[in-house]
Amino acid sequence: MIHPRILVAATAEEAGALAANEFEALIAKKPAAVLGLATGSTPLPLYRELIAREKAGKIDFSRVRSANLDEYKGLAPDHEQSYRKFMQDNLFDHISIKPENTIVPSGLAEDVEKECDEYEEKIEAWGGVDCQLLGLGHDGHIGFNEPEDHFPAKTHEVQLTEMTIEANKRFFASIDDVPRAAVTMGIGTIMAAKKVLIIVTGADKKEILKKTFWGPVDPQVPASILQFHPDVTLICDKAAYPFD
Ligand code: GLP
Repeated sequence: MIHPRILVAATAEEAGALAANEFEALIAKKPAAVLGLATGSTPLPLYRELIAREKAGKIDFSRVRSANLDEYKGLAPDHEQSYRKFMQDNLFDHISIKPENTIVPSGLAEDVEKECDEYEEKIEAWGGVDCQLLGLGHDGHIGFNEPEDHFPAKTHEVQLTEMTIEANKRFFASIDDVPRAAVTMGIGTIMAAKKVLIIVTGADKKEILKKTFWGPVDPQVPASILQFHPDVTLICDKAAYPFD
């Protein structure tokens, strides 16, 4: 097992600032870096910090490219709860990244397999992801790769588990409005990133964080595969860190 580099922050806000340091350093070194980006509550402090840092002249997003992890099936890009809309509202609309340099899987493709293949090709055409940002689901999912009996390789369609539907219902008017399926980068897509940055905050993630890096590598805990990635940085807050 390859151990991750671990940074423990006092708060979720501070975890966001530490993660922003990583992106700032990467973009300074490679102005056209390819970022793999994530949604959820976890990256919000990071995105706020990135916006502030570009305003302060510390980061320049004008040449950066980004590929998002996943999208709900059936939601149009301008749907209030789509991940494309989330990214526009929480990051892209506030930084200088060019719209054509941001990609999110389509939740509306009629030929899903073709959409997935093309998504992989776009990332490859950019030379692959330099730094993949991840959050952690309560069941150990990354992107929308739910617990399974194998690690799915490529971008693909998934059925969401009850636990994920339950966790994500807070963003929708009712649980019935939560899509039951999604399109997500595969575990192989994520593992192909040159560097992985996973942020885990909050006491409710402590147990699954422990299983992820200090338990067996098991497709029932999809994030545990990261134990085999050679360049993982885990940024967590004290509440989520499994040791005292
Ligand atoms: C969602 C997303 C993931 C995210 C995870 C955790 O379902 N598909 O990419 O990392 O769940 O979300 P949160 O950060 O809100 O806890």
